Amino acid sequence: MTILVTGGAGFIGSHLTRHLLALGRGHRVVVVDALTYAGNLENLEGLEGRADYRFVRADIAERPAMERVFAEERPEGVVHLAAESHVDRSSLDSGPFVRTHVLGTQVLLDVARGAGVSRFLQVSTDEVYGSLGPTGSFTEESPLAPSSPYSASKAAADLLALSYWETFRLPVLVTRSSNNYGPRQFPEKLIPLMIVNALEGRPLPVYGDGRNVRDWIHVEDHSRAILEVLERGRPGEVYNVGASSERANIEIVRFLLRVLDRDESSIQFVKDRPGHDRRYAIDAGKLRRELGWEPVRRFEEALRDTVRWYLENRGWWEGVRSGDYLLYYQRQYGER
Ligand code: NAD
Ligand code: DAU
Repeated sequence: MTILVTGGAGFIGSHLTRHLLALGRGHRVVVVDALTYAGNLENLEGLEGRADYRFVRADIAERPAMERVFAEERPEGVVHLAAESHVDRSSLDSGPFVRTHVLGTQVLLDVARGAGVSRFLQVSTDEVYGSLGPTGSFTEESPLAPSSPYSASKAAADLLALSYWETFRLPVLVTRSSNNYGPRQFPEKLIPLMIVNALEGRPLPVYGDGRNVRDWIHVEDHSRAILEVLERGRPGEVYNVGASSERANIEIVRFLLRVLDRDESSIQFVKDRPGHDRRYAIDAGKLRRELGWEPVRRFEEALRDTVRWYLENRGWWEGVRSGDYLLYYQRQYGER
C-alpha cells in the first residue's frame, strides 16, 4: 500500500521510512516534511530515485499543499510523526508547537478523511500522561495530564485524532511511546547532546539533581511497533510503546562517559527544566498481548552502538548544528 509518512526527514520518521522500504512488502512511501531545523534530507540519503519512494517538502498545516499530495498519491495509510519534538524549546516559544500539532493535525485529518484513507496512525508520546511518582507505570487508561506546551499540544492532537474516529469513523490509531534513542537523533536531546559535548570537551548539563527517570526504547523497536499498529491495530484504540528500560538521567550520563573513556569532571548540574516531569514508565502490555510485539534491542548494548554511530558520523552531527542550533544552545545553556 502507499503510506504517507509525515516528519519522515526527522529522527524516528527516517528510521520508519527505511524500515518500511526494507521490508520488501511492496509498500510505497511518500515522505512529507517541512524540513525545519530538525528535518534533514541526509537522514533519507540513498532513497532518492527509487520507484517506491517520494519526498515532498511541505508544511502539514498548509491545506492546499496537503490536498495536492493526497490527490497525487492517493495514500491508503498515513503515519503522522511531523512535530516540534523538543520539550525545552516549547517553553521558550510554544507557537510552532500549537501550530504544527493542533492545526497541522487537524488539516491532515480533514484531508485524509476527504481522501478516504483506510488507516491514520497518530504517533504520540508518553508525555501526555504527565509525571509518575516513584512506583507504577502508564497504561492506556492513565489520565492525560501534560506538563509542557509540547505535551499539551500533543495531547490535543491525540484527542482531535480520536474524535475523527468517534465522529466520522476515520480509522484512527494512536501510539504513545517512551523516550527513543539511536542513530540520527538531533543533538538537542539528552543522549546525543551528552555524546557530542563529551566528544568536544564541553560541559555536560544535567538538569536538577539528575534523578529524573525516563524509560528508553531503541528507535528500531519503536518503528516496528508503529508498523504493527498500522497494519493490525484496532481503530479508535491507543497503544503504549515501551521497552521497560527505566534509567535515571545521571546513570545514563555516567554510562556514556565510561563508554567514551572520559572522567566525570565535565558533568555540570544546572538549573532544572521548568515543569520537569519526574518519572516516566510505560506499560506496553496491550501491544504485546494484542499484536505480539516485543522489543529486541537491549539498552546498554544498543546504547554502545549508538555511541559508535556518533563517533563514526561526526560529519552528520557537525552539519546539523546550524545557526538556529547555536542560537538555541546559547539561549538554553547560556554558553557558546
Ligand atoms: P524530530 O524532531 O527528529 O522530527 C520531526 C520532523 O517533523 C522533522 O523532520 C521536521 O522537519 C518535521 N516537521 C516539523 N513540523 C512540520 C510541519 N509543520 N510540517 C511538516 N513537517 C514538519 O522528531 P522525532 O523525535 O523523530 O519525533 C517524531 C514523532 O514521534 C513526534 O510526533 C514526537 O512527538 C513523537 N515521539 C518522539 C519520541 C522521542 O523520544 N523522540 C518519543 C515518543 C513520541
Ligand atoms: O517520553 C517521550 C518524549 O521523550 C518525546 O515525546 C519527546 O519528543 C522527546 O524529546 C523526549 O522528551 P524528554 O524531555 O524526556 O527528552 P530529553 O532528551 O529532552 O530529556 C531527557 C531527560 O534528560 C529529561 O529528564 C531532561 C534531561 N535533560 C535533557 C537535556 C536536553 C538534561 O538533564 N539535560 C539536558 O541538557
